Amino acid sequence: MEILIRDTLKASAQMAARVVLKIIHSEEKTVLGLATGGTPLRMYQELIRMKQTGELSFKNCTTFNLDEYAGLLPEDERSYHYYMMSNFFDHVDIDRKHVHLPDGNTENLRDACRKYEQQIKNAGGIDLQVLGIGANGHIGFNEPTGSFASRTWVKILSEQTIQDNSVYFEKQEEVPRHVVTMGIATIMESRHCLLLANGAKKADAIRKMIEGPISASCPASILQMHPRVTVVLDEEAAYLLTFKDHYKWVEKNKLDWQSY
Ligand code: GLP
Repeated sequence: MEILIRDTLKASAQMAARVVLKIIHSEEKTVLGLATGGTPLRMYQELIRMKQTGELSFKNCTTFNLDEYAGLLPEDERSYHYYMMSNFFDHVDIDRKHVHLPDGNTENLRDACRKYEQQIKNAGGIDLQVLGIGANGHIGFNEPTGSFASRTWVKILSEQTIQDNSVYFEKQEEVPRHVVTMGIATIMESRHCLLLANGAKKADAIRKMIEGPISASCPASILQMHPRVTVVLDEEAAYLLTFKDHYKWVEKNKLDWQSY
């Protein structure tokens, strides 16, 4: 894993956006996997800025989002459809035909999940998958003890995640218990993962993910088995890492072509 630690939230977001920029510039067509939550918001703002200054265009991008709540309409402000439109897609030049989010609002969720997997395959797989991390180590909505072999499917949220995500709802009871998420195996097939985390609340999950044993009790720890993962952290999210100085040393000694 490549661990990049930054002093400020702004610097972390700029770093993350540069990783996205590099991949878009290096491919003729890019398939991006995208994430929601509070963490990637600043990265999206930075990408929008890059689009406005002409540094970047999303015309040749196809996107697949990680997850969605079941039972929320796309126009519901709490849905991830709404989040992605208002925080990103409405401000960039992406062709809407190339935007995909899991459908959490259909009669037949099982078919929709299978179709989503097929659409990712048809697009040639994901070049860069952006990820956040839950305080319990979840990625996407893959909660602790879920299978590492899972594919896009309907999942039940843990009580901790319902509580954590209730900040985006008026009442905790309004947080849907069911979600649709890419599975761990789906995420692991992407060619490059970019995981972002900020704040002390994520420090324990980050320590387990990077330095702990690989275990389904911290789903993100499976990323240790992925050939290409970039982790961008602020100092608070990194503060429990035993090898923090080593990660900084490695970054300082990178070859030119290895940096963003
Ligand atoms: C949700 C999302 C995850 C996200 C996590 C962290 O549960 N399904 O994809 O990574 O929350 O969110 P935040 O960035 O708001 O802490």
